[in-house]
Amino acid sequence: MPNSSLDATATKTVAFDLPSYLNRHTKSVNSALDHFLPKATAKPQTIHKAMRYSLFAGGKRMRPVLCIAAAEACGGDVNDALPLACAVECIHTYSLIHDDLPAMDDDDYRRGRLTSHKVFGEGIAILAGDALLTQAFEIVARSKVRKRYAHQDLIIELAQASGSLQLIAGQVADLEGEGRKTSTNQLRYIHERKTSALLCCSARLGGMSADCSLSQLKALTDFGYHVGLAFQVIDDILDVTQTSEQLGKTAGKDTAAQKATYPSIVGLEKSKRIAENLTKRAFAALKPLRGKATALKSLADFLLKRDR
Ligand code: IPE
Ligand code: IPE
Ligand code: MG
Ligand code: MG
Ligand code: MG
Repeated sequence: MPNSSLDATATKTVAFDLPSYLNRHTKSVNSALDHFLPKATAKPQTIHKAMRYSLFAGGKRMRPVLCIAAAEACGGDVNDALPLACAVECIHTYSLIHDDLPAMDDDDYRRGRLTSHKVFGEGIAILAGDALLTQAFEIVARSKVRKRYAHQDLIIELAQASGSLQLIAGQVADLEGEGRKTSTNQLRYIHERKTSALLCCSARLGGMSADCSLSQLKALTDFGYHVGLAFQVIDDILDVTQTSEQLGKTAGKDTAAQKATYPSIVGLEKSKRIAENLTKRAFAALKPLRGKATALKSLADFLLKRDR
């Protein structure tokens, strides 16, 4: 056989079926979340209904799938990653409920339905967020751990990503940036914290559930950081380019609230190039994971091209 055809065989990549991958893992995340959360009939019913209302409203489940894909990329078992995947989704959903409150972004729609505070009132919406945040830590504390990473490591990981130096810091800076002239450096600071931190943490927790090595963890950190930044740039772009129906949340809100966003600071075209470059950086970060990162790569590509 001539060398050239050998090379062709060696480099041939098998097409990855991301839609069925997302479908399969979304189903397992949803049924695990259902298992971890108190039933809607548990007293007081209002709070459990509210927690479930937002959690099962049809989010894209990108953080939990990222967690699972990261675990697989390190040779781990999906079942070991599943509790951590659910925990990051609980944190994410809590952050959305609070993000939508009148005192914050004041949004009426989320995930294609009325926001929590519109349906249950502000008090219950605040408490539903609080309860989901707390639930996340209980799920992690009850999860099975392997050799390298103890419960303490997992809890510190999640607490740091969602605490006042990361996710909350980003939300503070986002609010304080409204109507103010914001530099690209400051905008990067906001995006790193309000969004990238939790996506990065999702990937890292997946790796930790698989007992990953330090070099694998480093690769996942680098990957998650860049995918997370690209994710928020795309979110900013979609707010300008999509309809509310498509997004399941009110489009054009960033402009109306004079938010600091990439399109408002550098324009739409440059924003798209920035998202593409960040995604390329994410791809490059996967190198140390060698052939095992197909799902992660496909996910990053999907996140760049998403339309909602
Ligand atoms: C929206 O996140 C909030 C951001 C951090 C940009 P998603 O776009 O992942 O929202 P869901 O989970 O699909 O509703
Ligand atoms: C939300 O960012 C970030 C967090 C909830 C931590 P956005 O305010 O841009 O999210 P959307 O556009 O309301 O989904
Ligand atoms: Mg916001
Ligand atoms: Mg918002
Ligand atoms: Mg947004």
